[in-house]
Order: sequence, then structure tokens, then C-alpha cells
Amino acid sequence: MRKKVTVVGAGNVGANCALRIAGKELADVVMVDIAEGVPQGKGLDILQSGPVEGYDVMVTGANDYEPTANSDIVIITAGFPRKPGMSRDDLLLANYEIVKTATEQSAKYSPNAILILVTNPLDAMCWTAHKVSGFSRNRVIGMAGVLDTARYRTFLGMELGVSIENIAAMVLGGHGDTMVPLVRFTNVSGIPITELLPKERIDSIVQRTRDGGAEIVKYLKTGSAYYAPSAGAVEMAESILKDKKKVLPCAAYLDGEYGYKDLFVGVPCKLGSMGIEKIYEIQLTAEEKVQLDKSSAAVQELVDVLKKKMAS
Ligand code: NAI
Ligand code: 2OP
Repeated sequence: MRKKVTVVGAGNVGANCALRIAGKELADVVMVDIAEGVPQGKGLDILQSGPVEGYDVMVTGANDYEPTANSDIVIITAGFPRKPGMSRDDLLLANYEIVKTATEQSAKYSPNAILILVTNPLDAMCWTAHKVSGFSRNRVIGMAGVLDTARYRTFLGMELGVSIENIAAMVLGGHGDTMVPLVRFTNVSGIPITELLPKERIDSIVQRTRDGGAEIVKYLKTGSAYYAPSAGAVEMAESILKDKKKVLPCAAYLDGEYGYKDLFVGVPCKLGSMGIEKIYEIQLTAEEKVQLDKSSAAVQELVDVLKKKMAS
């Protein structure tokens, strides 16, 4: 039987997720959005690209969750994007309500699905979806590290004039200004980047990576990035649907790993048909751990706000 993926939110990220999933023939896709006609219209438009592009899956849109029943994966992109001058954290309470409803409805119709969260602030939205769904932690996963790592690899490729295919890297931590690109584990075909670039250049690339989302918001003015974010979410979905067991940086629920509890933080994960099949707990230097602590503390602050809201 064909696989089925629901994409909640048929905006920029959501529609591009649907397009990429269809283009790779990974699954039939159902888009859900509150905007009347938008998911239906975009669904039909993507479907009509099939005969030209040569893909053959069903793509539909709806304003309710009934058509999403029995999805294998639900990608949640519904919510407000960042505007210039707005931090991801400003989005917290507005997007909390949206993700709560999206999760409740998705879990009701697809109780066995794996949830991939995209909505910002990412790590806090993952925490929300995990609490609301009651799903086991391997089935609630956040997309951010794949995007942040793609940006880091892109900037390194531009700087070094080498193929991005040869650049291996990993960005950990929360999806915010305090994310942690792991320089020590970054290499070009096995050559550590510390052998190829002076410290100032590496520092500057690390900073540009941390500001990568804001850089695009500044250009676009009315929204945030969506091509690379949708590519990131679909890479994760593909690894799950095809049981590829890719090792990717994902926001995962930590229950003691890296010293954090009841918190979603970006860490290396193996993604297969069960969702997160392994969390890799790598030995960090004291300096890397300080950075990860800082990043996790920023996530914890947001989760504390949500905990208060849930208790009230
Ligand atoms: P967008 O504004 O283009 O699309 C959002 C869609 O959500 C709209 O179509 C809207 O109608 C829909 N929506 C709002 N409330 C809804 C509800 N209750 N149920 C269903 N749909 C609802 O925004 P875009 O660019 O697609 O971004 C979506 C989210 O993804 C934002 O929160 C953004 O910050 C986040 N994002 C996260 C990234 C990450 O790395 N984790 C990267 C890029 C974006
Ligand atoms: C990004 O990093 C806005 O989180 C989004 O582009």
C-alpha cells in the first residue's frame, strides 16, 4: 500500500514539502490549512505538475482532518512565520495554540503517525506536540538541525570553493541564535576544516550560520525561508519512509541524554521506520558543552512559559 503523508499548513514551507514529497514519489500527500480553498487549490496545482514532471502520487487539500486519516507521517508547518525584527521566540504563544490543535487533530486521525515539527519556535513546539499527542518520544521529531547544517555546509562550500557534497558537518542545540555548529567534527572529505581555514574565517561562518534564518528574513521582508526548510523536512520524512537510517541532527526529546531532561534539543539521531531509532550521545569538550548548555537554557525558558500556560 502507498505511504501517506499529511502536511499541516499549506503555506510556503508546507506547500514546498508537498511538492518535494510528490516529486520524489515518497507518498500520497494531504495538505490541511485553515485558509479556505488554499490547500485544495495548491494540491490540485501540484497534482497537475505530475504529468509534466513524471511523478504519479495523489495530492489533495482540505480544511479538516478527516482526509488525513491513517497517515504514516504528519509534518506540522502551520503557524506564523517570522517578520523582520521579530525573534523566533516572539512566535511562541501564537504558534502554541496552532500546534496544539494541529497535534490533537492529527493524533486523533492518525494515532500511529510519526510527527515532524517545523513550526517555530521549533524546540518548544516539539515539546508541545509531544505533551499533547502523548506519543512515544521516537515519534515526535523536530526539523531544524538539517536546515542549520545545510546552511553551514553551504557557507563552507562557498568559502573553500569545494563541493558541498564533500563537507560533513553537524549543528546541534536549539533552533535559535545559540545553536552549536560543531567545528571539531566538520571536515572536507575527512580533512578537518581547522586545517583548511583560519580561526577567524571559521568563526565568521559559524556566526553567519547562526544568523542564517534572519539573513533570509531580511531579504524577503514578508516572511522567512522555505526552500531549504522544506528540503530538510522531506529529507527526514524520506529517511523514515524508506527506513534509510540516516544520521541527522534532529530536535529530539531528551530524557537524561547530554544531561537534559524533558526537553527537546538538536542532537544526532538515526531516523528509520520507527522514527528516532537512536540518539547519539557524543563526548563534547568543556567548551562545546557550555555552548550546548546555553542553547538548551534558551529552549528551557520557552518551555517554562508553556508549562505555566498549561497549568493556568
Ligand atoms: P506561511 O505563512 O507561508 O504558512 C503558514 C500556513 O499555516 C498558512 O497557510 C496558514 O493559513 C496556516 N495556518 C495557520 N493556522 C493554522 C491552523 N490552525 N491550522 C492549519 N493551518 C494553519 O509560513 P511558512 O513560511 O510556511 O512557515 C511556517 C512555520 O514554519 C513558521 O512558524 C516558521 O517560523 C516555521 N519555520 C521553521 C523552520 C525550521 O527550521 N524549523 C524553517 C522555516 C520556517
Ligand atoms: C529559519 O531558520 C525561520 O526558522 C526559520 O529560516
